[in-house]
Amino acid sequence: MNRGLRDLRLSVTDRCNFRCRYCMPAEIFGKDYPFLAEDKVLSFDEIERLVTIFVSLGVKKLRITGGEPLLRKDLPTLIKRLNAIPGVEDIALTTNGVLLPKSAAALAEAGMRRVTVSLDSLNDERFRLMNGNRSGVQAVLDGIEAASAAGMPVKINMVVQKGTNDQDIWPMAAYFRERGHILRFIEYMDVGNSNGWKWDHVFSSKQILQLLEEHLPLVPVEAHYVGEVASRYRYQDGSGEIGFISSVSDAFCSTCTRARISAEGKLYTCLFASKGYDLMELLRTDETDESIREAIASIWTNRNDRYSEERATRTQSPAKIEMSHIGG
Ligand code: GTP
Ligand code: 5AD
Ligand code: SF4
Ligand code: SF4
Repeated sequence: MNRGLRDLRLSVTDRCNFRCRYCMPAEIFGKDYPFLAEDKVLSFDEIERLVTIFVSLGVKKLRITGGEPLLRKDLPTLIKRLNAIPGVEDIALTTNGVLLPKSAAALAEAGMRRVTVSLDSLNDERFRLMNGNRSGVQAVLDGIEAASAAGMPVKINMVVQKGTNDQDIWPMAAYFRERGHILRFIEYMDVGNSNGWKWDHVFSSKQILQLLEEHLPLVPVEAHYVGEVASRYRYQDGSGEIGFISSVSDAFCSTCTRARISAEGKLYTCLFASKGYDLMELLRTDETDESIREAIASIWTNRNDRYSEERATRTQSPAKIEMSHIGG
């Protein structure tokens, strides 16, 4: 389908200190949930080797995800090593933000360029309801502030669920517009098997745009590059920018250049994949870099994923990988 390999999303842990209902519902991801043992998670050496191979295949952009990536010990050390690989042009982090006050300075120092913080509401009660009662709003705002203070531009991701946090759309937009952060609204997606997703729970980007325009006029902005995930808009008065990630109402599979690696070293060619390719096994046997490179190239060349484009016409889905395994 003529889609290059440009972005690599690396999950560095399958664990998280939140239990967002749309991602890791607490009743499923409980005390006895079989999270990966330490030796089943890619080591820094293995990640560095893999990234070097991926860069030789065209990857320029890395995004560090989880679970919650800041739970991975010594993350700044890994960032420093990845940043030193020739050909890596951009390293960004997706996080829930609460551990940023501790780590932002070290991350920036190590070469982290940008941070995206997830926040679904400015209302404590609703936020706690959505994150499994793991954090209030202020802890996340402190994290955003810490990342900014360390010199990293911060974007905010808000997953919008109809009937859960749609009343927070304008308050979130107004708040982050004033503070100069780009807020992106993500349509609630049917990732994984445990969040009980229904079409009725989706609040579409079009509805969000209409709602925002009742407050302030918006104008579309050119994408930065072909295949940018978010459609960008700016406030007509020049006071800021927002984005829409419309995987449900306006799929972007035809320009999808993103590979994903789970913490246990499996390669997924789609966010909704049911099967990954075990790269850890290749790394832990005597395969050469060249043969791993060929294996990845062949997997990528043969991929035909377009889940979001097919969603509406599918009658059933096989079991899918969980979001917390591949970090979105
Ligand atoms: P930048 O534009 O570089 O800031 O990054 P990004 O838009 O990739 O940012 P981020 O990692 O925050 O992605 C935002 C969200 O968009 C993800 O968490 C997913 O929920 C969704 N998303 C990203 N890539 C894909 C994709 O390939 N398919 C689908 N369906 N959703 C995606
Ligand atoms: N639908 C849409 N976005 C989701 N995220 C996690 N689960 C879902 C889902 N089911 C978001 C997180 C985070 C990003 C990595 O993906 O809130 O911002
Ligand atoms: Fe954790 Fe992010 Fe999933 Fe929430 S969405 S449970 S913060 S990994
Ligand atoms: Fe890419 Fe799959 Fe998302 Fe489509 S649904 S954009 S193929 S990750």
